[in-house]
Amino acid sequence: MAVCASPFCGKDTESTLKCPVCLKQDLENVFCDQKCFRGAWGIHKYIHQQEDGEVYNPFPNFDFKGDLRPHYPLTPRRTIPKHIKLPDHAKGGRPLGELANDRRGKITVLEGKDLEKIRKVGKLGREVLDAVAKHVRIGITTDELDAILHKECTKRNCYPSPLNYFNFPKSFCTSVNEIICHGIPDQTKLKDGDIVNLDVSIYYLGFHADLNETYYVGDKAKADPDTVRLVETTRESVELAIAAVKPGMPFREIGNIIEAFATKNNVSVVRTYCGHGINSLFHCQPDIPHYAKNKAIGIAKPGMVFTIEPMLCLGTYKDVTWPDNWTSSTQDGKYSAQFEHMLLVTEDGCEVLSARQADSPGGPVPRI
Ligand code: MF3
Ligand code: CO
Repeated sequence: MAVCASPFCGKDTESTLKCPVCLKQDLENVFCDQKCFRGAWGIHKYIHQQEDGEVYNPFPNFDFKGDLRPHYPLTPRRTIPKHIKLPDHAKGGRPLGELANDRRGKITVLEGKDLEKIRKVGKLGREVLDAVAKHVRIGITTDELDAILHKECTKRNCYPSPLNYFNFPKSFCTSVNEIICHGIPDQTKLKDGDIVNLDVSIYYLGFHADLNETYYVGDKAKADPDTVRLVETTRESVELAIAAVKPGMPFREIGNIIEAFATKNNVSVVRTYCGHGINSLFHCQPDIPHYAKNKAIGIAKPGMVFTIEPMLCLGTYKDVTWPDNWTSSTQDGKYSAQFEHMLLVTEDGCEVLSARQADSPGGPVPRI
């Protein structure tokens, strides 16, 4: 049994179809079938030159909106120790529980032992994010951050939820500058003046945790008034929304709070991606839009767990997806920032399951 070498597949396969060029170089790369082989070729072929350390843009004809480019090859799929409990998408890429639940649409209420478990998972998620964020510095690649994240997860017996989720190829999302969300860790080096969002999701004890923060890279980012306005407004918008969460609050209210604050600070709100319920499923009801006058269904009730994760932009809120089918960029190439917390509704408000610790890296900087 081998794992299909297509970065878009990654399934276990009994196939004996091996890349002939690899074989000549004493590499064995197996593909499920001709479809996987042909589909991966544009990217796979560069493995053959990896010895020269060549880094390349796999989509040279794509109309990139800002300065950021993908830097391939992606590193091989990271492996999970046998003893770690896998979510349902880990093998085939499809989150079967979520897909089945989509048709029911009820909001889960957790109680008893499940509350203790999801609290624990939230805490571990925070530990993992902080452990990775410590390494954000000029020159590190997003793939090096992915390697650190993967290790921090597995050493805590956690599965990195993004890995193979709808075939996502890496263990978390790293979104730099104009990337709104779902950036794929690769050979891109962080540079002075960049911002990078680290979006961590883990699976442990049968529950998922999900949290993210945007970090400044180097002193230049912290010295740019627009960058600081964007990042600090996004950070504060989540805090404002959290302060309003309590039983009886309609979920549609959250977007009104966030957009009012965004508008006051002259930034825009992404509409394509929303917060979500989270429990034994990675993404489920309720849907939490971050824009005003939305029609979100549902009212907060003790025991519900969901995320608030606005993506705000210096220019247009409109997004475009790279040909990797994941990376979401702003349409004008201007910066976008995001912060995400995971909340449990309590009797009189909410508990932030992903709360920062006294020694968490990052945190607010003064506006200029
Ligand atoms: N972590 C993201 C969220 O906040 C989801 C990432 S899905 C992935 O909901 F497949 F891109 F990892
Ligand atoms: Co989320």
